[in-house]
Amino acid sequence: MERIVEIEKVSFESEYEKSLRPTSFEEYIGQEKIKKNLQVFIQAALKRSECLDHILFFGPPGLGKTTLAYIVSNEMRANIKITAAPMIEKSGDLAAILTNLQEGDILFIDEIHRLSPAIEEILYPAMEDFRLDIIIGSGPAAQTIKIDLPHFTLIGATTRAGMISSPLRDRFGMHFRLQFYTKEELALIITKASYKLEKRCLNDAAFEMARRSRGTPRIALRLLKRIRDYADVVDETEIYKERAQYGLNELGVNDLGFDELDLKYLELLLQSKGRPLGLSTIAAALSEDEGTIEDVIEPYLLANSYIERTARGRIASPKTYELFRLTPPTLQSTLFEDNA
Ligand SMILES: Nc1ncnc2c1ncn2[C@@H]1O[C@H](COP(=O)(O)OP(=O)(O)OP(=O)(O)O)[C@@H](O)[C@H]1O
Ligand SMILES: [Mg+2]
Repeated sequence: MERIVEIEKVSFESEYEKSLRPTSFEEYIGQEKIKKNLQVFIQAALKRSECLDHILFFGPPGLGKTTLAYIVSNEMRANIKITAAPMIEKSGDLAAILTNLQEGDILFIDEIHRLSPAIEEILYPAMEDFRLDIIIGSGPAAQTIKIDLPHFTLIGATTRAGMISSPLRDRFGMHFRLQFYTKEELALIITKASYKLEKRCLNDAAFEMARRSRGTPRIALRLLKRIRDYADVVDETEIYKERAQYGLNELGVNDLGFDELDLKYLELLLQSKGRPLGLSTIAAALSEDEGTIEDVIEPYLLANSYIERTARGRIASPKTYELFRLTPPTLQSTLFEDNA
């Protein structure tokens, strides 16, 4: 039986991402707390022959939210139907998806923070009572038709937890925030993937890549693929540290693990010499939208204390000044500049 039904082509997911995607909790490295909890809840649901409660995954891109949704469906031995909020424009779109579900199915909605309020309204009774309320006609003649839906599990994923309306968030029985991965975890992900790619990556080479992957498996796997290319070209059968270092430098991946956007961002904060910069100022200076800055750049920098977010804006942390061999501004100079 075909267990994965793509309702819409959600994104141009590359083939390697699919082929390297873990399919069980055993293969899924890290996020131990989430895995442990999910395993308990899945076991309990299976024992009672019930549907799993609705799940919300949130966290920066590439940390494994979609992967977890697939694993949950595997473990529940359920079909998974995949879509993304921007694909659900009209209430009829969601009604069609919901009425096509089978008992026990999993519905995965990516970027769930982008659902419109009208669509969310339809989702509430569906999540709570497995019921679809359809309004036919308008004005005094309007009628509501109630349709029973099969029991299903909604899995929502988002990079922006703060943008989900609280009524929607409250209807998920489980909330899981994914964390950035440690170097050790990333090195293990790289090593295992290198076996799948049939190009063994030696331990110190894996660490070299892990160190420069921004705590993110998707980046780690992308680097591995590129470094494999460098090794292939010179007919090396395994990936050595020297080749990894060479390749990473050629790719312009910073030795400290920052990418180009991180560097531009940090340089901007360092140039402001301790004066806090607001999100809109940073976005304008980097020619990036505020969403990218908040979702993609800042979480990693904040998690590693490279920056601080104050009520007045963002500043570079003393650690960053040290890293760039600069003297942190004194409080006095900041005040002085502020008054200037
Ligand atoms: N814990 C993990 N162990 C091994 N591989 C992982 C893990 N987490 C993610 N990956 C790999 O990293 C890649 C990205 O993961 P995934 O697509 O699940 O991220 P995501 O959180 O859904 O990202 P986005 O927010 O962009 O949708 C996949 O190729 C997946 O195989
Ligand atoms: Mg995803």
